[in-house]
Amino acid sequence: MTEASMPTNIALIKYMGKKDSVLNIPDNSSFSYTLDNLRTTVKLTPIDDARDHWDSAEDKTRFIKHLDFLRNKFNQKQYFAIQSSNNFPSGCGLASSASSFAALTECFINTMHSTVSTAEKAALSRQGSGSSCRSFYKPFALWSGEKVENVELPYKKFIHHVIVVSSDKKLISSSQAHAQVKTSLLYSDRKIRAEKRLTELLNSFRQQDWQKSYEIIWQEFQDMLALFETAEKPFSYLKLSSYFVLDALRDYWETHHDGPLVTMDAGPNVHVLFREDQASMANMLSQAFRERFTVI
Ligand code: DP6
Repeated sequence: MTEASMPTNIALIKYMGKKDSVLNIPDNSSFSYTLDNLRTTVKLTPIDDARDHWDSAEDKTRFIKHLDFLRNKFNQKQYFAIQSSNNFPSGCGLASSASSFAALTECFINTMHSTVSTAEKAALSRQGSGSSCRSFYKPFALWSGEKVENVELPYKKFIHHVIVVSSDKKLISSSQAHAQVKTSLLYSDRKIRAEKRLTELLNSFRQQDWQKSYEIIWQEFQDMLALFETAEKPFSYLKLSSYFVLDALRDYWETHHDGPLVTMDAGPNVHVLFREDQASMANMLSQAFRERFTVI
């Protein structure tokens, strides 16, 4: 049996819209922080059969398709019993394709005992699920086209919490969202906005201008939500409670002229990131949100 564990990541500049949906090449660069504590472990046990066996409830077809893809790439014949588990509570709406595809890719490569570079692993994983390629780098990953790389910044570690407002299964997968945003009239300039924000965010991180970083990251996820809402067939992942949480965080910033970085993915839950010297603020705010929501 071979085992591998890989983290998920949260995008601060979002991957939304693909240039190539087979190879998962994005239209714009994205930039993420790796969530080292939120991980998927994949176990592969060789079996004497001509198909893979799967024991988890997650998206089976895509996972097995990716294993087939890897097997073909490396000219392998071995089939496996696949086990996959997350170290974060299931049903918290965080089921993450980034960590599961990264862990599957890493684990498959480990079964072959051959040396494959990180860049190559990331590229293979990307073809399973785009955002997973960023999980091979930490603490920050920058992904443009086919290239993923580390970025050196003055921040080494953030305190990360997710305010879980709903754990319902999402009706529109992120792969569907990537296709549907292209029908938005706002999409034609999306790349320009995303690349501009990326440059500005890297600058503000380098200058340790925390408030500016918060503003850029806020505008960026709102830009993604606007693409969802202005698609030909508009859609949204937000619940009423998501707006409540966002409002509370904005009020906090307005009152204190300080606060966490705030972002959202294709889902209703709100991610907050604090600097390490904001630990007491992080405790206080997560405690306050725990009165109404699950906070992890
Ligand atoms: C909103 O990587 O899940 O989380 O490549 O189709 O698997 P596929 O999409 P996926 O998209 C993630 C979208 C996002 C933003 C991001 O992580 O950058």
